[in-house]
Amino acid sequence: MHNPVIVALDVASQAEGEELLRSFDDRTIFLKIGMELFYQEGPGLVKTLKQQGHQIFLDLKLHDIPTTVYKTMKGLARLGVDMVNVHAAGGKAMMAQAIAGLKAGTPTGKRHPMCLAVTQLTSTDEATLQQELLINHSMDDVIVSYGQLAAKSGCDGVVCSPWEAERIKSSVHQDFITVTPGIRFSEDAANDQKRIATPSRAKELGSDYIVVGRSIAKAQNPNQAYQRVLTEWRQEHETSS
Ligand code: C5P
Repeated sequence: MHNPVIVALDVASQAEGEELLRSFDDRTIFLKIGMELFYQEGPGLVKTLKQQGHQIFLDLKLHDIPTTVYKTMKGLARLGVDMVNVHAAGGKAMMAQAIAGLKAGTPTGKRHPMCLAVTQLTSTDEATLQQELLINHSMDDVIVSYGQLAAKSGCDGVVCSPWEAERIKSSVHQDFITVTPGIRFSEDAANDQKRIATPSRAKELGSDYIVVGRSIAKAQNPNQAYQRVLTEWRQEHETSS
């Protein structure tokens, strides 16, 4: 079975990342590296973590002209990462070139890294969508439509809220992957996340992978918190929010 729990390595340096990784009993973890860490430490860190056996979701949210995205994805595939992403707002040609680049950078016979689309950032609300981006549709329609476009372009899935997972699967197809941040234990503070769910609830709602940041990294005992996420995911429907 795939490892469904992705730990967000939301730190500013390799040293901080290593400190967090040392706290885990598990030798290998599925890690998410975002812009903050990647722009500081670069591809060298990704290679090191891959050599240590970790799986990597490189969360760089590419959004540029198709040729640039093609060439960038070719390079990212060569790093051996497992998951990457693009903004669906870049359009069908851009997403298709992202997939083409990933295939070009992957050794023959191997599966290219999974490519996810970001439909709308969770920080964008409907007022921003309509008044600033001039997209005159409901958030729900935009998310479903962008999800369908991502699937037509060859993307494997989307990053979305656990509460949107089933809606996206039913309007695209059930095998369309949903990777969902916004995960909290039942007693945790939501912080800046608006639509949160516990690990078990997220699974029940149709998430294929969950991304967990602060509930693990900021816990008094990150290892215990990580083990608890795994246990709650396996148990399914224990607590919900
Ligand atoms: O600390 P927390 O569990 O909220 O962290 C969630 C992680 O998922 C962060 O790295 C955040 O940037 C990322 N993320 C998100 N919402 C999205 C896409 C990514 O929270 N739509």
